[in-house]
Order: sequence, then C-alpha cells, then structure tokens
Amino acid sequence: MESKLLIAFPYFFQKSFLLNFAAMKALIFTEINKALELQDIPVPEEGNGLVRVDIKAAALNHRDLFITQGLYANIKTPCILGSDGAGEYEGEKVVCYPALDWGDETAFQGPQFRVLGMPENGTFAESILLPKANVLPMPAHLTFQQAAALPLAGLTAWRALISRCQVQKGEKVLISGVGGGVALMALQLAMAKGAEVYVTSGSEEKIAKAINLGAINGENYRDEGWDKRLKAASGGFDVIIDSAGGDGFSRFASLCNPGARIGFYGGTLGKVNNLSLQPLFWKQVSLLGSTMGSPKEFRDMLAFVEIHKIVPVVDSVFSLEDGNLAMERMQGGGQFGKIVLEINA
Ligand SMILES: NC(=O)c1ccc[n+]([C@@H]2O[C@H](COP(=O)([O-])OP(=O)(O)OC[C@H]3O[C@@H](n4cnc5c(N)ncnc54)[C@H](OP(=O)(O)O)[C@@H]3O)[C@@H](O)[C@H]2O)c1
Repeated sequence: MESKLLIAFPYFFQKSFLLNFAAMKALIFTEINKALELQDIPVPEEGNGLVRVDIKAAALNHRDLFITQGLYANIKTPCILGSDGAGEYEGEKVVCYPALDWGDETAFQGPQFRVLGMPENGTFAESILLPKANVLPMPAHLTFQQAAALPLAGLTAWRALISRCQVQKGEKVLISGVGGGVALMALQLAMAKGAEVYVTSGSEEKIAKAINLGAINGENYRDEGWDKRLKAASGGFDVIIDSAGGDGFSRFASLCNPGARIGFYGGTLGKVNNLSLQPLFWKQVSLLGSTMGSPKEFRDMLAFVEIHKIVPVVDSVFSLEDGNLAMERMQGGGQFGKIVLEINA
C-alpha cells in the first residue's frame, strides 16, 4: 500500500496526465446489483479531525448485501462499503466504532446518525479515515479477524439485550435465527450474563453449533410446532431477541412470561401478520425496538467482551480480492457467525 502506484485517469486524460499517488486497494460499490469492483485508489489523507486506520480485517453485515441489492435508503455510489474493521493506528491494535454522530441522547440516535460504510467510505479497503473518537483499543485476547467480527454485531446485540431488554442472570432468553452475526453475539453475551439461552434457526446444524457454544436447546423455525415445543422445553421466556419479524414474530406472544421483553433490531422477513395483542398487554410485555448503539455502549460492550474473554464466531475468511465471494456466502445464508475479509495480512 505504501508503494507509489501509477493511477491512470480515464482515456481522454491518459495521454496528458499520469499522476503519482500513494495508492491502496478498495472494494468499490459502483452500481446496484453489480459485483463490487476491486480498485486502486488514492490513500485518504488525515486532516480535519480524521485519522487513518490501516485495516487488517473487515467483516460483512447483512446491511452491505441489502445496499448492493438496492434494498436500503439513500443509496450513494461510488462508495466503499463495510461497517466493521480492526487494524492499526499509530502502532496500536484498534477496532472501529461502526457509526458516526450518534448524538446527545442515550435513548435514541440523533438526526445526523450514520452507519459506517455508505454514505461515508467504509472498511472494505486497506485504510479508512475516521474521527479519532471512533478508534478504540482492540480487546487483547482477540486476533484482528475476531476483532473485526465484533463491532456492529456486538454493539447491536449489546444494546438490544443489555440496554433495552435489561437481561438478568438466570432469566430465560430466546434468540431467533441464531446463525446471524448479531444473533450469535446476543447468544454469547446472554450466556456471559448468566442467562439460560434457547435458540431457533433454519438449520439443524446451526442449532447443534449453538448448543455446542452453550445454548440449552433449539428448534428449527421451518418445522411446524417449533413454538409449542420451545414453550414446553423452557416454560416460557423472559427475553426474546429477534431480527426476522414476519409471521414467526407473532408466535412470540404466547412464548412470553409475565413481564417479558421482546427486543428487535431487524425486519428481514417484513411485516408481522396475526400478532395477537391480548397476551402482550395481559402479561405486561414490552416491545423494544433497538438500533446499533452509542459510543458509550460500544465501550461498555468492549470492556464486557474483554472481561469475559468472549471470542466472536468467525464463519469464514476471504481475501479482499475475493470480496464478492464473501457477499455470495452471505446471500446464501449458510453462515454461522461472521464472514470476514482479511486485508493487508
Ligand atoms: N437495527 C440495527 O442496528 C441492525 C444491526 C444489524 C443488523 N440489523 C438487521 O438484522 C437482520 C440480520 O442482520 P445480520 O447482519 O445479523 O444478518 P446475517 O448475519 O446475514 O443473518 C441473517 C439472519 O436471518 C435469520 N433468519 C432468516 N430467516 C429467518 C426466519 N424465518 N426466522 C428467524 N430468523 C431468520 C438467520 O437465521 P439462521 O441462519 O439461524 O436461520 C440469520 O440470523 C437484518 O435485517 C439487518 O438489516 C439491524
């Protein structure tokens, strides 16, 4: 990356200009429904309160896929995607807070809030510019790849489970769709809190892996009667964490214990039909929407991960050059944990 590369301007400039830039590799999102392009672009220069982090590993989130599919608001091209990154800044190992301008409130983000990686350039590149406050020491027990798997998923799971649902030791927790990045972090955080965790997944193999990680039991949400079997096995749940929405969400009403909290941070399957309100108000159930988290929540999450020596689950590792294969893996939905890009290894 440090070497000077010749960057060729478009053809009509080529004859007259060939400029010398310090260049870096980046995966560029140029158009909806088109593969990301690996390009050599100028290394961004520090200034105006922004510092440069040399990225060693980045991780994918479903958001990156939704953006390339045009399923996201205010899409901007060209842009470098990627919200998760770990790397080096001034010789120290660091992780990046995956958002900008949370705002002054703890209860909700302000109007300027943005997730890293569109509209601002993200982490699918050899380096990134960030406000210095976004750059935090990496938990010492993690590798770059494991640390890159942590920020967005860990932060989202932390806020949903800890800040919003206030999970307590000994409570029964259901994590739906445990194969997802956030869901799996929620499983790990809930277990470290001393909760009894049950899961759902569309894959028996993923349920078995979750049980291997410490979940008590799981059901396949594709099988008829999954909710009744989970109720019989657990006796009901104090906290439910979900990102799917859709018809499965309506089953949660009967799974809730009195005083239960349902934390949800996504709506992958769309609208919830047939949600019965009677069991929800009678059992004093709280429905708690949750999105990402504040810088303080990120610091709290990092400290908790460090104390409990939590290691995020890495599903697979791809090179930056193979970034589109990584996106295909996410689209296929076969992952258990985070899909990571190794950069400058
Ligand atoms: N609000 C926020 O701050 C925030 C942050 C992160 C993510 N999200 C949203 O949360 C969702 C998941 O994101 P991610 O990055 O974790 O995705 P991901 O790693 O690609 O995982 C996809 C998830 O969807 C689950 N799923 C698919 N069909 C399901 C069903 N019928 N019932 C239950 N779960 C089902 C999968 O479970 P199995 O693989 O186990 O079947 C898996 O957990 C997306 O909609 C994303 O936009 C929101």
